[in-house]
Amino acid sequence: MKLLINNSYKKIYSDKIDQDLNISEGVIKKEEYNSITDGLIKTHKGKNFLIKNPDFKDLLFSIKRGPQIITLKDAGFIASNLGLMNGFRVLDCGGGSGSISCFFANIVGKKGKVISVEKNEKFCEIIKSNVKLFGFENIEVINKDLSEYSSKKLFDAINIDLPNPWDYSNKISSLLKNGSRLTLYIPNTTQLTHSQQDFCAKGFKLEHVFELILREWDVNDLVCHPKFDMLGHTGFIMCFRKIMVE
Ligand SMILES: C[S@@+](CC[C@H](N)C(=O)[O-])C[C@H]1O[C@@H](n2cnc3c(N)ncnc32)[C@H](O)[C@@H]1O
Repeated sequence: MKLLINNSYKKIYSDKIDQDLNISEGVIKKEEYNSITDGLIKTHKGKNFLIKNPDFKDLLFSIKRGPQIITLKDAGFIASNLGLMNGFRVLDCGGGSGSISCFFANIVGKKGKVISVEKNEKFCEIIKSNVKLFGFENIEVINKDLSEYSSKKLFDAINIDLPNPWDYSNKISSLLKNGSRLTLYIPNTTQLTHSQQDFCAKGFKLEHVFELILREWDVNDLVCHPKFDMLGHTGFIMCFRKIMVE
């Protein structure tokens, strides 16, 4: 995958091409496009583009979407609250579009592993195509209902993004290493108390509950203020830790 960017921040993503690239700024010859991986490239009209391999953020914004993905602000906060490190084995329950599975895979690296459990077969195909886009080899997509998933190896961290996490608290407890962390991503307050009561009764300590409100700003020569439109509510993040010492 390559990324073309010009001065107006127009972005074009493309794999190796077998035909000349015809865009509004002109034509880029396929031979030239395929041979340059990093540098500048000119269209036949003399318009310059920067050509480079996309980074993780570029790719994340170009993934295929099925179910609603966890936003970048929440994904980053979930990953840090899970305490993810290189080499971790992570379970992502409710893989959806695979966005947060990919986010985790990027952090745990080649020595680590992410298991993404998703019950819907079509969504599993979306996750697989997104995994391919990133080129990750450390994600396994499992097309199963979480209630049917089992693993002999325990996990260093677990994230759940599905509507009824309490229904799986016994299973999650049996899959997570003692002392390791669990996050729940849930949109409704009604799910907060239900989850707190259930997971705490199963030996999890509730460390934090967060809601992140993000205000992006417009800053240029003329203006300096928060953007007029903002994303209101996304989801609550519940952070638990399995501590069983008795
Ligand atoms: C909101 S989406 C998850 C989005 C995902 N976190 C992302 O960032 O792309 C929730 C997913 O959970 C899946 N799901 C719901 N219940 C499930 C279950 N019991 N077992 C496995 N997957 C389940 C749904 O099919 C849906 O794709």
